[in-house]
Amino acid sequence: MIIGKPFLTSEQIQKRVRELARKISEDYEGKEILAVGILKGAFMFFADIVKQIQVPLDIDFLVASSYIKTETTGKVKIHADLREDIKGKHLLLFEDIVDTGLTLKYIKDTLLSRQPASLKICAFLDKKAHRQVDLEPDYTGYKIPDEFVVGYGLDYDNKYRNLPYIAVFKEDSSH
Ligand code: IMP
Ligand code: MG
Repeated sequence: MIIGKPFLTSEQIQKRVRELARKISEDYEGKEILAVGILKGAFMFFADIVKQIQVPLDIDFLVASSYIKTETTGKVKIHADLREDIKGKHLLLFEDIVDTGLTLKYIKDTLLSRQPASLKICAFLDKKAHRQVDLEPDYTGYKIPDEFVVGYGLDYDNKYRNLPYIAVFKEDSSH
């Protein structure tokens, strides 16, 4: 497996993060957000975007997984739940990427049953090609083609999350 050249550079990422934060700040004006980072993948995106959001917010995390290497298992597991009571709160979930949509659909349905005042989703990347459920993020950084990408929080087998840019991950056919 090899890492291709940057698909989204650090500068492109940061520019888009600022735009998303501006839109979110406008949309939530006068409200308070409970911002939820979905770990591990969203850790970098989440840290970057909350710094730029201009409305008061609380932070919480949820640890979930569904992937083994590059294949979704279809089964979503919540390894660590929120610590905050979300009833009556304006929840905004931050995710690295939506692919089949199964992970976010499961998380969304689970959290909706706890009666937040509202629940929206902000996904940095949206890969529509494999969508299996009806799930549209309310805010999307970039729509991307059907490629497996790593970096900026996204992993292959738990590696490459620390890259400051996003790159396409490919099978190395040269040997
Ligand atoms: P979904 O449940 O299929 O929508 O998958 C969502 C999760 O799969 C994301 O939170 C990622 O952790 C992982 N994932 C999906 N596509 C990619 C990719 O291209 N690179 C790295 N992780 C991915
Ligand atoms: Mg992952």
